[in-house]
Amino acid sequence: MTTTTHLNPAGIEVRPISGVHGAEVDGIDLSTDLDDEAVAAIRSAFVEHHVLVFRDQDLSPEQQLAFGRRFGELDTHPFVEGNADHPELLDVVTVPEDRINFGGGWHTDVTFLDEPDLGSILYAVELPPTGGDTLFADQQAAYDALSPTMRGMLDGLVAVHTAGPQYAEGGQSTKSAEMSTKNSDLAARTVEHPVVRTHPESGRKGLYVNRAFTTRIRGLARAESDAILEFLLTHATHERFTCRVRWEPGTLTMWDNRSVQHYALHDYAGHRRHMRRITVQGDRPR
Ligand code: SIN
Repeated sequence: MTTTTHLNPAGIEVRPISGVHGAEVDGIDLSTDLDDEAVAAIRSAFVEHHVLVFRDQDLSPEQQLAFGRRFGELDTHPFVEGNADHPELLDVVTVPEDRINFGGGWHTDVTFLDEPDLGSILYAVELPPTGGDTLFADQQAAYDALSPTMRGMLDGLVAVHTAGPQYAEGGQSTKSAEMSTKNSDLAARTVEHPVVRTHPESGRKGLYVNRAFTTRIRGLARAESDAILEFLLTHATHERFTCRVRWEPGTLTMWDNRSVQHYALHDYAGHRRHMRRITVQGDRPR
């Protein structure tokens, strides 16, 4: 039986977890049929804090999907096989023998799409005894920290993104032994996005390049593009722009792909980790 949560937005406790971004949200059971006021309160906290962590949630796949749909249409990963019963749901699994893990490098989800996902919602099912944290880097704080001259130079630039290095045949795919890729023949396609993205809800500007999928800056010589991209990619993930989520079984974290990069640490070799991921469709970056 589903119940309706009538939540006064002021009744949700939002506690920041770092000086830049990320917050834990208490006082809400995501398995219930949330009312519009509760969803609006979560969305507002999401846009403000970029990364929201909900502890002690007991969610079936269907309940996680229903929660995600309150924020928009769900996406299906173009290059990784989804769950057999729910194609929009990715079982992100690392098995003890894996030497690499899905998401094990700084990236923003699916920027190789014309309309990359607005956000991702990850639920912890099974965790190693220790480790397996996820790091997040605030791309708006990284942009704000640049000099006005650098910001002015970047504002008009456009970058090329592709899934090729990860998902094309022979690519260095981050999948683990228990995850399967698909459509590798389509992965080399390129798309272009602004180097600096304006968040459609907050109006804040943030860097929008990442090491996994951004290959070059349009209109620059290769050496110029390489040098500027290397500077930006290093700057964008500096420790001072990050927060870190330590998972417990039943933790759900949702992050705003329009304002953060993330990195799934693989410091638990010999152990299994199973997360369920869904993603909400986004718009064309501007
Ligand atoms: C991902 O990149 O979506 C996976 C994050 C994680 O497993 O912590």
